[in-house]
Amino acid sequence: MYVLGIETSCDDTGVAIYHSEHGLISHFLYSQVAMHNEYGGVVPELASRDHIRKLVPLIKQTLQESHLQKSDITGVAYTAGPGLMGALLVGAATARSLAWAWQIPAIAVHHMEGHLLAPMLEAYPPPFPFVALLISGGHTLLVQVEGIGRYQLLGESLDDAAGEAFDKTAKMLGLGYPGGPKLAELAEQGKPTFKFPRPMTDRPGLDFSFSGLKTFTLNTFNQSHKTDQDKADIAAAFQQAVAETLSIKCKRAIKQTGIKRLVVAGGVSANKQIRALLRALAEQENSEIYFPRPEFCTDNGAMIAYAGCQRLLRGEQQSLEILARPRWPINELL
Ligand code: KG4
Ligand code: ZN
Repeated sequence: MYVLGIETSCDDTGVAIYHSEHGLISHFLYSQVAMHNEYGGVVPELASRDHIRKLVPLIKQTLQESHLQKSDITGVAYTAGPGLMGALLVGAATARSLAWAWQIPAIAVHHMEGHLLAPMLEAYPPPFPFVALLISGGHTLLVQVEGIGRYQLLGESLDDAAGEAFDKTAKMLGLGYPGGPKLAELAEQGKPTFKFPRPMTDRPGLDFSFSGLKTFTLNTFNQSHKTDQDKADIAAAFQQAVAETLSIKCKRAIKQTGIKRLVVAGGVSANKQIRALLRALAEQENSEIYFPRPEFCTDNGAMIAYAGCQRLLRGEQQSLEILARPRWPINELL
């Protein structure tokens, strides 16, 4: 079964083809970063228009480079949410139209389920069950995963997501968009000399809150001499605070569930310090840990093709509606 995957939930146009037995055949990504950079963040209307421009040529390119004909494709998977409404609609309408024209099923995929399953694309995929820490620009989730579609939410961010906190902090430090990778780069030149809090770790529970860290960063920055070294040191202290907070909560989740297997995915999981700290935690806790390769941490079509393929293999069928849900809690998935 060849499944075409389409991802357009935010500022990346991603297309991939996944085969149920042979694995990932090919994947392509067009990033809108350069376009949104000028505005310091994602402009939703520009994002939608650019997806319209790029999606069909990218699908043609993916088919060509895979040496496949459209008649070889047996299913189309698309991100139906959560994400930006206009951007989602482009992918959803395109996927549904192709499925109708090619007389094959289309399947709506939850963007965070895509992230959650991204490590399955690697040579050593995690066996079930596992605890998943999903850290992206829009969500921070801890999920107990028993199998495909069997997800129990353990904790989530009550305000800003981890990636959002990285992006906003980077903006405060004048680093531009997208802030996460830029802040991580700057942090490498600094030392975490400033003392930052580890939010919500002094009380029980698995929820997160990162918005206070932002304010703390701003106050620290304003009270500093604002030198380049101060900026780098603040970036390092912020990054360490996020990494340690995530690690403390993962340790709790492992203890609470008794599942000694951790999967970490979503854009922020590309962060080297966070990866290193969570690897150290896994070692300490005698647990296994799995990450996607960095390019599959951030948004991509491959994870959507994979998730859609698994659902189609389970015999899932959907009505012909064009599904786009900007808000879609992951625990509504079956
Ligand atoms: O998963 P993703 O590509 O999109 C969403 O689903 O939101 O995640 C994007 C987020 C952004 O906030 C970006 O700044 C952050 O992931 N990010 C990083 C790094 N790479 C991407 N944050 C910290 N360090 C990184 N290396
Ligand atoms: Zn994402």
